[in-house]
Amino acid sequence: MFSTVFIVLTFTILSCLSANIPNYIHICKRSDPDVAKCIMNSIEVIRPRLKKGITELGVPALEPLRIHDLDIGRGSPNFKADLTNIDVFGSSDFQIHKLKVNVPTLTFRVQVTLPLLRLSGHYDVNARILVVPFKGQGKFHANATQCTGTAVLKGSLNEQNGVKRLHFTKLDLKLQIGDYNIKLESGANSDPIIIQAANDVFNQNRKDFIEIAAPFIETRVSEMILEIANDIVKNFEYDEVFPEK
Ligand SMILES: *[C@@H]1O[C@H](CO)[C@@H](O)[C@H](O)[C@H]1NC(C)=O
Repeated sequence: MFSTVFIVLTFTILSCLSANIPNYIHICKRSDPDVAKCIMNSIEVIRPRLKKGITELGVPALEPLRIHDLDIGRGSPNFKADLTNIDVFGSSDFQIHKLKVNVPTLTFRVQVTLPLLRLSGHYDVNARILVVPFKGQGKFHANATQCTGTAVLKGSLNEQNGVKRLHFTKLDLKLQIGDYNIKLESGANSDPIIIQAANDVFNQNRKDFIEIAAPFIETRVSEMILEIANDIVKNFEYDEVFPEK
């Protein structure tokens, strides 16, 4: 979900005069005393294009954003949920509250809120919920409201044959999920009564489940963002895309 901002961030860093760089990317200069503001303006310019994605730059569509797999509870004896083929709607409505750019250290700090995300996908749950074993598979639908991500993205410069390229090395993401609603549908081999009971448990203990799920979502989303961000920047020279002056 928070990939949005980093994709965009990455992009706007890419803004330049080079023939390689598309004109819908607005230039921000390293020496700009208000470079964060420049980047935020560039994000607004590019936002409409993000819905469908930008194929030539390897940017996936945000409406919907596809998450192939998300394992929640790995390593826990009592709770394991494998979610696959998740479509997330609402990612392009991100609101940026804070953006700080430290040019010398290539550190980007950002806080983003997503007012409403709607998700659907496939679940495979194996859990012991309140002493009752629950196993089932099928489709799920969920809504999450007021999700806030606070992230620190670290970059470094690699130099090869005199050409500098930006590479992102690390992303720390902290996620707060305001609230959610979930509906599991019962699949072919599952007992509808048990699925209904599971729905009640998931929806009545939202704080507990947010606490269980958040670290797994943070890890998965961070991996996605780093991969996408690096796919994008590897196409460009640093001095072209984020010029000093
Ligand atoms: C999510 O919200 C939409 C309307 O905003 C509603 O139609 C849908 O039933 C909700 N889904 C869940 C799982 O709560």
